Amino acid sequence: MNIYSRPWGTISSGETATLFTLVNDNGMTVEITDFGGTIVSIKTADRNGKLTDICLGYDSLSDYEKADGYLGALVGRVANRIAGASFELEGKTYSLYANDGGNCLHGGKKSFSYVIWKSETATDNDKATLTLTYFSPDGEEGFPGNLTTKVTYTLDNGGALAIRYEAECDKACPLNLTNHAYFNLAGNASGPVFGQILWLDAESYLAGDKDLIPVAVKPVDGTPFDFTEPKPIGKDFFVDFADLRMAGGYDHCFNFTGWKKCKSGGTLLLRAVACDPISGRKMEMYTNQPCVQFYSANFLKNPCFPLRGGKPQQTQTAFCLETQTMPDSIHHQGDESFTDGVLRAGEKYDYTTVYKFSAE
Ligand code: BGC
Repeated sequence: MNIYSRPWGTISSGETATLFTLVNDNGMTVEITDFGGTIVSIKTADRNGKLTDICLGYDSLSDYEKADGYLGALVGRVANRIAGASFELEGKTYSLYANDGGNCLHGGKKSFSYVIWKSETATDNDKATLTLTYFSPDGEEGFPGNLTTKVTYTLDNGGALAIRYEAECDKACPLNLTNHAYFNLAGNASGPVFGQILWLDAESYLAGDKDLIPVAVKPVDGTPFDFTEPKPIGKDFFVDFADLRMAGGYDHCFNFTGWKKCKSGGTLLLRAVACDPISGRKMEMYTNQPCVQFYSANFLKNPCFPLRGGKPQQTQTAFCLETQTMPDSIHHQGDESFTDGVLRAGEKYDYTTVYKFSAE
C-alpha cells in the first residue's frame, strides 16, 4: 500500500491544494484532493486486469473551483436541498444561501465542497488512509453551532474504498454528509450508463415536486423505482411515470429496507451492487446510512467544463449513489416517516460507506 502527495495548484484564496494518490498492491489507484475532499479519480481493473478511471472528474483544480455538479466532492453541512433556504430549529429561524432557485443545495455557497480540508496520511500492510478534517464555525453558511468534521478515506488490498464521516457540534444542527462521486464502470465519459445493472435494497423513495423537494414517501413496488431485482439503469428510464419524468430521470432519495433501524455507528449492510456486463467491473456498496440519493446525472451538461481529457459533459453518462439521510428532513421534524437529520450537542455523528470494486 502506498500514498503519494503533490502540490496541485492554488485556489483563489491563495491556499494551496494537495493531490493525494492512494495505491493498493493490485494497482488500484484513487486520487483525492484536500480541496473539497474531492475524489478526483478511481482506477480499477476490468476482468482482463486493464485499469480504467471509473470516476468522472476534471483535468484541473481551477475547474473544480469554478464548476458546479460537485464531481467527487464531499458534501455538507447538508446534502441535497433545504426548501426555501431556511429552517427552524429549537425555536430559532436560520437563513441559508439560496443557490438552487429559492432553495439551498448541498450546503450553500462554499459549503464543504469548495474549501481546503486539513490532511493526514498513514499506511500499513493492508491499508492506505487519508484523514481530512474541517472546522466549520457557528453561523458559517447560516448554520448553527461550531462543527468539527472528520472524514477518513481508506483504500485496502481487497479493492474497497471506505469513507467514514464523523462529526460533533456544540449546538443542534442539521447534518447530512455524503460524497458526490459520479461512477461509470465502463470508464470516465465513455457514454451513457443505461446498460449498467443496478440492484438497490430500497423499499421506498421520496417523490419530489418540480424543484426536487421531497413531498411524499412512496413504495417502490410496481414502479420504475423498483431496483430490488437487478436491472439495467436504462430499463425503465423513459417510462411515462410522473415522479420519474418530473426529475428528468432518477434523482431521488431511496430508503433502504428497514431504514428506521439504521443509525449512527450502526452495522454496515450491503445496500447496492452495480456492474458493467461489458468490462465485468462490479461495485458493491455497504453503508449504515438509512438512504441513498440515486442520481442519474440528469444535469451533467455544462458546456463550460469538459470532463477529463477534454470530453464534453453528457447527461446520464454516470450514476451517483450518495448515501445520506432524507433530503429536507429538517422540514419534517417529528414526522415518523422521515429521518431525523439533526445532530445535537453531545452526540456523535458516525456513518461509513464502502464502495468495493472487483471484476468478474
Ligand atoms: C442532486 C441533483 C443535483 C446534483 C448536482 C444531486 O445530489 O440530487 O438534483 O443536480 O446533486 O448538484
